[in-house]
Amino acid sequence: MSRRTPIESQRVDAPLTQSATFLVLSVADGPDAVRTVRSALSSVDDLSKNVSIRDLDASFACTVGIGSEVWDRLLPGISRPAELHPFPKIEGKVHTAVSTPGDLLFHVRAQRRDLCFEFERQLTDLLGDSVKVVDSTVGFRYFDVRDLLGFVDGTANPVGQAVNDSVLITEADDSNSAGGSYVVIQKYVHDLKRWKSLSTEKQESIIGRTKFDNVELDDQDDDKQKPHKQLANIEDPHTGAELSILRDNMPFGNPGQGEFGTYFIGYSRKLWVIEQMLERMFVGNPPGLHDRILDYSTPLTGTTFFVPSATVLAGLGDD
Ligand code: HEM
Repeated sequence: MSRRTPIESQRVDAPLTQSATFLVLSVADGPDAVRTVRSALSSVDDLSKNVSIRDLDASFACTVGIGSEVWDRLLPGISRPAELHPFPKIEGKVHTAVSTPGDLLFHVRAQRRDLCFEFERQLTDLLGDSVKVVDSTVGFRYFDVRDLLGFVDGTANPVGQAVNDSVLITEADDSNSAGGSYVVIQKYVHDLKRWKSLSTEKQESIIGRTKFDNVELDDQDDDKQKPHKQLANIEDPHTGAELSILRDNMPFGNPGQGEFGTYFIGYSRKLWVIEQMLERMFVGNPPGLHDRILDYSTPLTGTTFFVPSATVLAGLGDD
């Protein structure tokens, strides 16, 4: 009788925290860089333990994503996840979702900024010049889980068992990628001056929820410009059931430099679900009627990664 090794997922379902770092890296050319990166990735679990033990109440977690273009170079023996491809540029009539490079994503979360910082320090020491930083953004929790547009962000996230059902690939979905997840990031900057010139009622009609007490507004008819929450609501084409993704958006910015942003991050068992949300936001549904959040928010990046199981990551050091 054959015994199967249980597959352990990464901490995709880690709780929302006060601080997070979104570190996107590219891998340098050459076999030495690949060897160093594989070894560092296999050590992420140990590094996480080094840091999280310093304060076990701080909910430290790091999830690692691997980009489509580096996959075959970095993981030559491991089948490509069925849906993995680079982030597609999406051009609507008015707004464009740009596609930007990135080989590795480290989504580092903790209640304390110092723990995230310490992990980044130890990680970058290990990686050395085998990588280049594409983008490093530090996010913070803003009052009662609000984004910088002032709205509570994350309400419709799945909870309990629905988290795993929404984010983790099963044996039946794609047996070689079981326990993994797709993750998409977009770094948005807001034109807060223009956003603040809108009335609260207008802002609420763009988001689809009330600002103060976060109550859902009624959906719009098909021929009207729909609110964000309606455009981002995707149904299973066969069963009609709502298909959720797990978001852990974080505000970031620097008021002195006029920078105000939302770092969007969405995990999903099915990549097409996030891509359909983006299509509906940028192209519109019906086409031409885009998400008006985009009239005040511009994505500077857009990158897709695959989050392999922890079991796959741990095995990369066996070279
Ligand atoms: C809902 C903000 C981008 C997917 C929401 C809500 C807010 C919000 C305030 C309502 C509360 C909630 O359920 O969380 C933002 C901001 C964004 C952004 C400020 C960037 C500027 C995106 C993107 C996607 C997305 C790029 C997907 C590709 C969703 C989903 C919901 C949602 C799935 C829940 C919809 C439902 O109620 O079923 N967002 N969002 N968001 N957003 Fe976003």
